[in-house]
Amino acid sequence: MWGGRFSAGPDAIMEEINASIGFDHRLYRQDIAGSIAHATMLAETGILTQADRDAIVAGLKEVQSEIEAGTFTFSRALEDIHMNVEARLKEMIGEPAGRLHTARSRNDQVATDFRLYVRDAIDTLVAQIRTLQLELVGRAETEAETIMPGFTHLQSAQPVTFGHHLMAYVEMLGRDAGRFEDARRRLNENPLGSAALAGTSFPIDREMTSAALGFDRPTANSLDAVSDRDFVLEALAAASICAMHLSRFAEELVIWSSAQFGFVRLSDKFSTGSSIMPQKRNPDAAELVRAKIGRIMGALTSLLVVMKGLPLAYSKDMQEDKQVAFDALDSLSLSLAAVTGMVGDLVVDRTRMAAAAGSGFSTATDLADWLVRVANVPFRDAHHITGQAVALAERKGCGLDALTIEDFKTVDERITSQVFKVLGVENSVRSRTSFGGTAPQNVLGQAARWRSALTGE
Ligand code: ARG
Repeated sequence: MWGGRFSAGPDAIMEEINASIGFDHRLYRQDIAGSIAHATMLAETGILTQADRDAIVAGLKEVQSEIEAGTFTFSRALEDIHMNVEARLKEMIGEPAGRLHTARSRNDQVATDFRLYVRDAIDTLVAQIRTLQLELVGRAETEAETIMPGFTHLQSAQPVTFGHHLMAYVEMLGRDAGRFEDARRRLNENPLGSAALAGTSFPIDREMTSAALGFDRPTANSLDAVSDRDFVLEALAAASICAMHLSRFAEELVIWSSAQFGFVRLSDKFSTGSSIMPQKRNPDAAELVRAKIGRIMGALTSLLVVMKGLPLAYSKDMQEDKQVAFDALDSLSLSLAAVTGMVGDLVVDRTRMAAAAGSGFSTATDLADWLVRVANVPFRDAHHITGQAVALAERKGCGLDALTIEDFKTVDERITSQVFKVLGVENSVRSRTSFGGTAPQNVLGQAARWRSALTGE
């Protein structure tokens, strides 16, 4: 492509370090769409003849068919997807292929291709997030009354409903989707026509290529357009946060499915056995989802470090943007699919969950609240009194609800047998009707709101 200036070809090592075709072949569809839009615009503005444009477009479609049929031979010597496509076009249609690169550079070409790619990836990921949310909403509806222990510090805190717990992830995922959508809005500007860095003297029409490629508008500064990758970074930041959420949920699945907890059972389809221990059901898919955050936020860190300190405009460093981003976006997509699958066939042990919900004096707060409400005790004092009741129960080796009224009277005279009503986990969750609280009716309300938002009904 630049033989005019050179007398020797590249060293083999140069070729190896320089080539990106090993990974950027993925951009073929975006690259060809960009070239078709560019050639069409060049013909509309009189820079190219209509005949050349037609030959180019027909040839590009043929190249695309070859790639999709697996008959295209990618060449490392041709460095990247842009030159591989153009070289094949040249073989097919001859001279007009050489006119395609008028008023364009690989710098604006790759920026355009990659924006289109990340935009598509965002659309896929958002759809996957919505699918997972809907799955969780469905589960929350059936588990709205299921009582489980709520934890802080992984210590029994207060009983909650399993539906409420699942809906917490629906909220997180909703913000994750929102972050991707925000990133998409800022991403959706067209770099094509920025050329190498300074724009072009040809009378191009950037509005035309923007419309053809579904961009909202052309980018306003050619240097910025070819040299920033913040659109990828934003997508990777959104991906990292989403992967962090999935990792937390995956960790909970690992804990809940252990023999000691036994709250849920992952289906055979999402578990593995052990080659030595016949009893084992290992939550490998959940563990891998828990781990994927490593490479996803690794990609974010990697690209931030690549970009920092780069002077404007394009530098070859920026070719290091793609491999990590592809891997991260793929990993998130796979994680979302795996979590959706695991939630879909999760078997819930409601009895075990409810039994565990009552352990660890989980209704102690209900006792303190009762003292405030019924005996007009200041909360700080009620807290202290309740602490003594817990200590007594601990000494007796029983739960709060197994203490007798005489036991309670030794702690505080004001406690009456009415108190037993609030010591059950059932009552505890039912009473938490404050907005955003865990009561079954709240869970159903939130699930209905999300269901209609997600299904548009
Ligand atoms: N393969 C290159 C990349 O991914 C395309 C742009 C090359 N531009 C250049 N001036 N060498 O960044």
